[in-house]
Amino acid sequence: MRDPKTLRSNKWFHGDQYEHLARRAWLRSEGLGDAAFDGRPVIGICNSWSELTNCNAHLRQVAEAVKRGVWAAGGVPLEFPTISLGEMFMKPTTMLFRNLMSMDVEESITANPIDGVVLLCGCDKTTPAQLMGAASANIPSIMVTGGPMLSGRWHGRPLGSGTDGRKLFEDLRAGRIGEEQWAEVEGCISRSAGHCTVMGTASTMASMAESLGMTLPGGAAIPAVDSRRYQLAEASGRRIVDMVHEDLKPSRILSREAFENAVRTDMAIGGSTNAVVHLLAIAGRAGVELSLDDFDRISRDTPYIADIKPSGQYLMEDFFYAGGLPSVMRELRPLIHGEALTVTGRTMAEELQGVEVRNREVIRSLDAPLNPEGGTAILYGSLAPDGAVIKQTAASPHLLRHRGKACVFERYDALRARIEDDDLEVDENTVLVLQNAGPLGGPGFPEWGHLPIPGKLLKAGVNDIVRVSDARMSGTSFGTDVLHVSPEAAVGGPLGAVRTGDEIELDVPARRIELRVEESEIRRRLAERPPQRPHYRRGYGKLFLDQVTQAHLGCDFRFLAREPEENGGRASVS
Ligand code: FES
Repeated sequence: MRDPKTLRSNKWFHGDQYEHLARRAWLRSEGLGDAAFDGRPVIGICNSWSELTNCNAHLRQVAEAVKRGVWAAGGVPLEFPTISLGEMFMKPTTMLFRNLMSMDVEESITANPIDGVVLLCGCDKTTPAQLMGAASANIPSIMVTGGPMLSGRWHGRPLGSGTDGRKLFEDLRAGRIGEEQWAEVEGCISRSAGHCTVMGTASTMASMAESLGMTLPGGAAIPAVDSRRYQLAEASGRRIVDMVHEDLKPSRILSREAFENAVRTDMAIGGSTNAVVHLLAIAGRAGVELSLDDFDRISRDTPYIADIKPSGQYLMEDFFYAGGLPSVMRELRPLIHGEALTVTGRTMAEELQGVEVRNREVIRSLDAPLNPEGGTAILYGSLAPDGAVIKQTAASPHLLRHRGKACVFERYDALRARIEDDDLEVDENTVLVLQNAGPLGGPGFPEWGHLPIPGKLLKAGVNDIVRVSDARMSGTSFGTDVLHVSPEAAVGGPLGAVRTGDEIELDVPARRIELRVEESEIRRRLAERPPQRPHYRRGYGKLFLDQVTQAHLGCDFRFLAREPEENGGRASVS
């Protein structure tokens, strides 16, 4: 047991000044009695619940389960809100606000009498935002993710939210299904509370939190409405109290080894390309050096083994029954750092002892993988000097080596306006290019990178073409989409020099993306580009434009990253 005098909360509640009495008195107004002030750790429950974030709409019930655990272990739970980021509603994109939420999380923790914190998240950006904030605050922290929705089903066909909705929308555009069937899909694709049911960004980031060691084992895949999620939440409430007594902080868990484990796991599960940006940003907060090259190096010798949409065929519920993330990491055991510490206080190797794979259809072995390499590949070349990403396991194999003429759109609205135009000069070899959709150009780095297939190609039965942009794409998307081209067009990257008719060469096995135009001509064209008018002149938007880094660095704000030698925390907030 830790000496109560060493707790952060002690400084708020115990002393002989007026404010000590006042703080106790005001907390008593919530109905808390003497037990709240007898030296127990105060546990903050950082809740991203919001009815505007439908994926997180059940987190108040999850918080109640956490509170039971905290009380049972001898702590005092105090729940608090932060802003929440609902992928479905927020404009122009939730990514614009990830860093804002991370700052809210950090400052809410550090400004208050909190000794440890339980982070409740779910929808895509809420998970990295909380991990970034917690890494910066650096007090004992444990995460409880919200879990995936129940699987959808339509006319006997399993429906994965996002992935199958997009596929069926293409069927609608091509005339393969009608309006009546489309309306039926709306009623059954999103069956319960929880995040998207495929290995989209939310499921991937829940898996990243678990593989980093920031959740209790097995938490990522439990369905949102399964009673076992509430049991896990209660157990997390109990565990955080012990973590406070042990002074087990994120800076001891978020090591270089933990990040390498997370990247490897990301590759094995065919995780969302967004995980690249988020892990870079979280590592930056933890003071751990991580780069795109680490992703590519690890991807090359990590087999893709989890057969889950959008790269595979099963849904998160199937993944849970197959053993979930512990089973994947057990398979990866020869490749991961077993010594990495987790929130349990034990190592990852200890946690994986006795874990089995329960369904070999869903989780393959390293000897019989779905793909010999990991889900994401990093590309470089004259079109992306600082890098680009592609989810190779969700791309069309015949397009992984491809040369074609570019059809270029300077802005997304121009692309949307023309995509159904039968006069658009495109064929199945075209490389569709979108510029000005990156962190500054979007603005906010929107998920536009899964560019729609031109209507006339869809109707002709073409379901995939090479697409290149400086945007991100939803983790639920699929196709031969080259994303996160860096530097982006808006800051003078060569993507901005591409013109319709130029030849682009993609070679994923060689990790190249080349613009087949003379370097001098690229420079000339870039010099001719008119300066961009900033999207924001005031407020948070201006702060974002002034401070955000490029995609290959994680898109955090420059002033929020920690220098590697500072690892050890925000000087342990007091
Ligand atoms: Fe929230 Fe997919 S929309 S996880």
